[in-house]
Amino acid sequence: MSKVFIIGANGKIGKKLVTILNETNEHDVTVGLRNEEQFPFFEEKGVKPAYFNLEDDVDTIAETLSGADVVVFTAGSGGSTGPDKTIMIDLDGAAKSVKAAEKVGVQQFIMVSTMHADEPEYWTVEAMKPYFIAKHYADRIIKESSLNFTILRPGALSDKEGTGNVTTNPAGHNSSKIPREDVAHVIKTTIDNKAAYGKIVTLLEGDSPISEIYN
Ligand SMILES: NC(=O)c1ccc[n+]([C@@H]2O[C@H](COP(=O)([O-])OP(=O)(O)OC[C@H]3O[C@@H](n4cnc5c(N)ncnc54)[C@H](OP(=O)(O)O)[C@@H]3O)[C@@H](O)[C@H]2O)c1
Repeated sequence: MSKVFIIGANGKIGKKLVTILNETNEHDVTVGLRNEEQFPFFEEKGVKPAYFNLEDDVDTIAETLSGADVVVFTAGSGGSTGPDKTIMIDLDGAAKSVKAAEKVGVQQFIMVSTMHADEPEYWTVEAMKPYFIAKHYADRIIKESSLNFTILRPGALSDKEGTGNVTTNPAGHNSSKIPREDVAHVIKTTIDNKAAYGKIVTLLEGDSPISEIYN
């Protein structure tokens, strides 16, 4: 049983992941939350909350992550904040989390990045550029770290019901979307999976069973 710490657990993917992990009860899950009003929702499910804010410093973050075997980063500043928060959360928050995870000897770091994070030719919408830039450099920091990382790069997230199937090969693919529920299932499949170490995986809705994506 691994100790899994979820950063961004109160988000849409985060909550789906908590539900999925709760169903199987294979892991000891702690959810990182920045608002104590969010605690009861998770406590009622039997999941431990910990106060966690990505605007804190590395030492504070490290103290909270201490003891975790696996860290999942599925946080984001969201579309309603400006580029300042995008840099502070999606880039600096991710960078501090990586540093903190290294400091306390986390075994595996799973990052929810975005499709096209390495392809500036797709960063054509001006308002989205800070987001792609933040995700791109956060991913570079993870790749250059000493951590066993897995970077997941989903396309546009939808709230449609998951299918249990995805494609990891966007070439010639019609859809640019993926249900959050399928991303959450991919995260579950990635946890503790040594075959996922060092992998950067694009994710779109598709026909391949999630259980086979690291085969
Ligand atoms: N939207 C898309 O189409 C798309 C596409 C590809 C990848 N992604 C990525 O997918 C991931 C998750 O998406 P989602 O839809 O689940 O996002 P979401 O619902 O917006 O959840 C983001 C979470 O991050 C948390 N957060 C924000 N600032 C924080 C801080 N200072 N400290 C701690 N936590 C903080 C939020 O906390 P609160 O609940 O307290 O606000 C929220 O729970 C993100 O990394 C996003 O960049 C999104």
